[in-house]
Amino acid sequence: MTTTLRNPVLALAVALAFPAAGAFAQAAAPLADWPRIASPIAKDAALEKRVAEIVSKMTLAQKVGQMTQPEIKTATPEDVKRYYLGSVLNGGGSWPNGNKHAKAAEWLALAQRYHEASLSTDMAIKVPVIWGTDAVHGHNNVFGATLFPHNIGLGAARNPKLLEEIGAATAKATRASGIAWVFGPTLAVVRDDRWGRTYESYSENPDVVKSYAGAYVRGMQGMLKDDANTVATAKHFIGDGGTENGKDRGVNKSTKSQMINIHGVGYYPALAAGVQTVMSSFNSWNDVSTGTDYGKMHGSRAMLTDVLKTKMGFDGFVVTDWNGIGEVPGCRNDSCAQAINAGNDMIMVPDDWKAFIANTIKQVESGEIPMSRIDDAVTRIIRVKLRAGLFDKSPAQNAYAGKDEAMQPRELARRAVRESLVLIKNDKPVLPIARGKKILVVGKTADDLSNQTGGWSITWQGTANVNADFPNGDTILAGIREAAGSNNVSFSLDAKGVDVSKFDVVVAVIGERPYAEGDGDIGPNGTLRHSGRHPEDLAVLQAVAGKGKPVVTVFVSGRPLYVNDLLNLSDVFVAAWLPGTEGKGVSDLLVAGPKRYEFTGKLPFSWPKSACQTELNVGDKNYAPLFAYGHGLKTTTLSKVGKLDATYPAGGCGISNTFPVFSQADRASFPLTIRSGEQQLVLGADLNSTFSLPGVTVQTSQVNTQQDAKLVTWSGPATIEARGARAMVLPAAAGKDAALRFDTIVSNAPAGKVTMAMGGGTLDATGLFKNLAGKGKQVVRIPLSCFQAKGTDLAKVEAPFSVTSNAAFAAAFANIEIAGGAASEAGAVKCEELK
Ligand code: BGC
Ligand code: BGC
Repeated sequence: MTTTLRNPVLALAVALAFPAAGAFAQAAAPLADWPRIASPIAKDAALEKRVAEIVSKMTLAQKVGQMTQPEIKTATPEDVKRYYLGSVLNGGGSWPNGNKHAKAAEWLALAQRYHEASLSTDMAIKVPVIWGTDAVHGHNNVFGATLFPHNIGLGAARNPKLLEEIGAATAKATRASGIAWVFGPTLAVVRDDRWGRTYESYSENPDVVKSYAGAYVRGMQGMLKDDANTVATAKHFIGDGGTENGKDRGVNKSTKSQMINIHGVGYYPALAAGVQTVMSSFNSWNDVSTGTDYGKMHGSRAMLTDVLKTKMGFDGFVVTDWNGIGEVPGCRNDSCAQAINAGNDMIMVPDDWKAFIANTIKQVESGEIPMSRIDDAVTRIIRVKLRAGLFDKSPAQNAYAGKDEAMQPRELARRAVRESLVLIKNDKPVLPIARGKKILVVGKTADDLSNQTGGWSITWQGTANVNADFPNGDTILAGIREAAGSNNVSFSLDAKGVDVSKFDVVVAVIGERPYAEGDGDIGPNGTLRHSGRHPEDLAVLQAVAGKGKPVVTVFVSGRPLYVNDLLNLSDVFVAAWLPGTEGKGVSDLLVAGPKRYEFTGKLPFSWPKSACQTELNVGDKNYAPLFAYGHGLKTTTLSKVGKLDATYPAGGCGISNTFPVFSQADRASFPLTIRSGEQQLVLGADLNSTFSLPGVTVQTSQVNTQQDAKLVTWSGPATIEARGARAMVLPAAAGKDAALRFDTIVSNAPAGKVTMAMGGGTLDATGLFKNLAGKGKQVVRIPLSCFQAKGTDLAKVEAPFSVTSNAAFAAAFANIEIAGGAASEAGAVKCEELK
């Protein structure tokens, strides 16, 4: 090793030494290769000896059990004991005893039972279990916990010190519930804001992610010596924020230099702060510039072993993502020698863990997985458990165990909210609003903690929550009422029938509704235009604007969106991101209180000027955003945004000729409805609900990935259809040779007659579905010409997907779309088969 500054280890050490105390790291010269990182939690000879001793006394079943992480819904403490399970996780929206309102003590009791079970096995040396959870904006699965702004809002703060404090507070909250491992921070550098996980990213600018990653890990893990420390996870390795079209689990086509210098930069400071676990990512990496296809990251030995462990020197363990192994070609959720050989150590197999254990043991016995790989994985897991003190103290012995107060860092969160707000338009001097002024508050998000907290909040997608699910939170409306005085504030959800002239100022709180992975993606045919998905927000602003009273809009969203129509109706516009439970952090900046606060937030993501302006990132050639990365006004500076062009392309951005009807990403465009006789029911967004009418029941199921499908079970005459508010606009070119395409698993053949209808034409699909029964997943393509031959008018398709059965029949449907060209794909249905 040389000692010049060209040495990447030293260069990095120097770079890391500087961003101390709130300073913001300067962009460093690009790295040519993956750097070697020295962890402050260095190898300790005595500890390593102890690990070796434990591993040497373990049987194969004990080792494979140690590598297995089921979900708490599927594995009891008794299972932990019997199968030597090394870990459990609670997925998003999974709570002890299925109790959404479980308090710290109930979580702790279950954690303690798992722990005790792991110490009562027949292993020569017992190894405590470790429980992992997605505490990604505070301890967000837990009732009563304080939820911080999602990462995108923290990115606006440009304050590494704040991140360190939030890491520490989240670790303490997690310990209160008996849990010692957090699946965060997310270090994605999101480059296409259509990705539904954009809000989990601090910034499109790698420098921000770099300046936060180490600070957060330091806050959360410390040196793992304190009761307030938990094990952290850097995720998702690697390239999750760079997939094509922002598609969840998609393909990242970066060059090696982009992977190292954009998507990888969060990992170096995280490792340098001692992060003990890294989560593999769902995405693939195909470096098209050199023709190097690394494939799915879960199966990539090159990345997990050669880069992360060998080159970068990571000595903690790699955990897979939720059924991530099942996405590696040739693998299943319960079997994937390739993923283990690639370097994954702990396998997240929420459901199929028993089969996984049996299959993995066989793969070791047959030599498909070398014993040395298993020993390495188990060594890494036990090393981290020893470092984290899990052998020394039970969950109940932690100083914060069972303490609900330890989960409520409310003042810190309120400050974080203040620092996260970005004033993007300030054309009139309205803020702060003086106490005593009459304020009209409008909009669906003013009094809605579910919209305010977003995805990963008590539930996975953040849906199906009401204000009472956040007993220690304040809505933005509650904050305004307190700051301005209740009798000065009136609230109307939609402003209908309200006389605006009676007020001094209007505050509209609007924005996106909660979503998380998959569901939150804006598909390739969607646009960035917010009002297309949320016409209610445009309507409420139209109801209050132009009435001679200033309008302040607070826009609550997981990403920047095309909102020129909304900006035109607002004098002042605040990007509030997803602030979490502390609505008073918002009102602190809106209403003048005894203490005067000013906006300090700066845009962490570039704000688009038009409906199809994506990708849009600082540093782009021809960079022309509406509001640039870093933009952020003070109330004392007036802007001159004026009137903006609010037009948008009618048929979407025209990126492809596929028109989504129903998929995880496009649920909103053609909502699913069931009909039975005169009755009709629109299926809500709640993935856990069962929807029923006489003759038909619909439940969420899986055809490709988790919860991507609807299983429809008929017992009598009824219809399921995807019906939009407006007819589908199909450009002529797409209609030619287009087909209705969908994925299906037919579990029960039709006992009667099944028809499919579209725009006036009806086809007999009884034979089609009979043939598909019992064959597992099938892709169906029905040429639109078959419908047209039966009278379908393609200009009048309000329900592009409609299936009616008059008797028992069961099938799951997913990925429903009108696909240009699909009529000539292999396997397309012939019209004769539909008579
Ligand atoms: C997400 C991860 C998360 C895991 C466990 C996955 O689907 O991608 O970020 O940690 O689930 O809930
Ligand atoms: C779980 C999440 C998980 C997701 C993965 C959900 O059912 O609750 O925690 O991330 O599945 O698709």
